[in-house]
Amino acid sequence: MKYRKMEKLGISASAFGLGCMRFNGAASGDSIIDEQKAISLIRQAIDGGVNYLDTAYVYLDKTSETVVGKALKDGYREKVTVATKMPLGYVKDRASMEALLDEELRKLQTDHIDFYLMHGLNKKEWESFKAIGAPEFFDDMKREGKIRFKCFSFHGSYEDFEYILNDFDWDMVQIQYNFMDIENQAGKKGLELAGKKGIPVVIMEGLLGGRLSKAPQNVQALYDAFPVKRSAVEWAFRWICNHPEVSVVLSGCNEAEQIEENLRIFDTAEAGVMDADELQLMENVRRAYLDRTKIGCTGCKYCMPCPNEVNIAGIFSAWNNISLYDLNPADDWGLKRIKGNGNGADKCISCGACEAKCPQNLPIIEKLQCAWSELG
Ligand SMILES: NC(=O)c1ccc[n+]([C@@H]2O[C@H](COP(=O)([O-])OP(=O)(O)OC[C@H]3O[C@@H](n4cnc5c(N)ncnc54)[C@H](OP(=O)(O)O)[C@@H]3O)[C@@H](O)[C@H]2O)c1
Repeated sequence: MKYRKMEKLGISASAFGLGCMRFNGAASGDSIIDEQKAISLIRQAIDGGVNYLDTAYVYLDKTSETVVGKALKDGYREKVTVATKMPLGYVKDRASMEALLDEELRKLQTDHIDFYLMHGLNKKEWESFKAIGAPEFFDDMKREGKIRFKCFSFHGSYEDFEYILNDFDWDMVQIQYNFMDIENQAGKKGLELAGKKGIPVVIMEGLLGGRLSKAPQNVQALYDAFPVKRSAVEWAFRWICNHPEVSVVLSGCNEAEQIEENLRIFDTAEAGVMDADELQLMENVRRAYLDRTKIGCTGCKYCMPCPNEVNIAGIFSAWNNISLYDLNPADDWGLKRIKGNGNGADKCISCGACEAKCPQNLPIIEKLQCAWSELG
């Protein structure tokens, strides 16, 4: 296992951090997590050198922290740093922040949390949390020893990321990053900004929740043609590790074989590990994914609201997503929500209000019908 120094914090973290959000349910189907299996996976990772675990109050219907707490008995707690998150939607005031943190400590069976993150923070929330004393709460809890490091996780725009990052003395930040998300969310710019400020960065969704682990045919052909043979998973993780600003790459494994493979991958993946040909391969892979784009909708939503409540941007986003990553439409939660809410393209009456407003001049009416027939 490669370890990376978080200079600002004076600690070394394993490059592979175990995400505790994706454990499978019990075979009987009546339990959110197969506890024994999850505990065994967590301990397998720690025994293999992982010293960073990531969980959250809300994961797996609020059961993840409890299972992590159980896995960390028998001397395992001392071997790892634990990251968990403040569930922003449950916070009303300072008292509720304190009560939630105490509950998390109890569930994790520990007297301190190493990395305490504001979960999925955005700019608007940050402003309202400042007003109810979140910065003081973080500083007080650090002084009392209940948390070691003040952190946030983030899925918003680069502009919001820059604002939040510059607005408080953060110890660490967690962002989504992979070779497809260079210009999405905090993106490469955000990673580099945190690096410049000396703030350690933990990466989530390195495989886009597993989507990058199964390459579609045109992408696999590129991997196959390259002289060095590696799995899609290994290419994706090595590409992230190549960035010197990255401290930890989280991966939410749900099988022993995945942990085994990731332990092997993170044994050699370090900053600067990729040569020019390998970087070019990954750029070609990225383009090959993008070639699968169905429609050049940028998601600006100028076309909306639709007078008949068709979720135009959502349908195009699902259409692209399903095509890019070769997904089964039945598994796409965005599409499921659109269908469940009755905002599908079957509601379109071809009035054309959307086309008049589209900055890309997309033939929205025609493409909506194509998308809807392909998406079933
Ligand atoms: N703070 C936040 O807002 C937030 C948001 C998202 C995630 N997270 C955290 O970040 C962690 C990492 O994100 P993620 O779980 O989305 O990570 P990820 O690495 O992008 O995706 C995890 C999925 O990748 C697949 N996988 C992992 N290792 C593999 C291997 N060796 N071979 C084949 N497939 C493999 C598995 O998919 P299959 O299930 O298909 O086998 C697994 O469920 C989460 O667990 C969570 O702790 C935080």
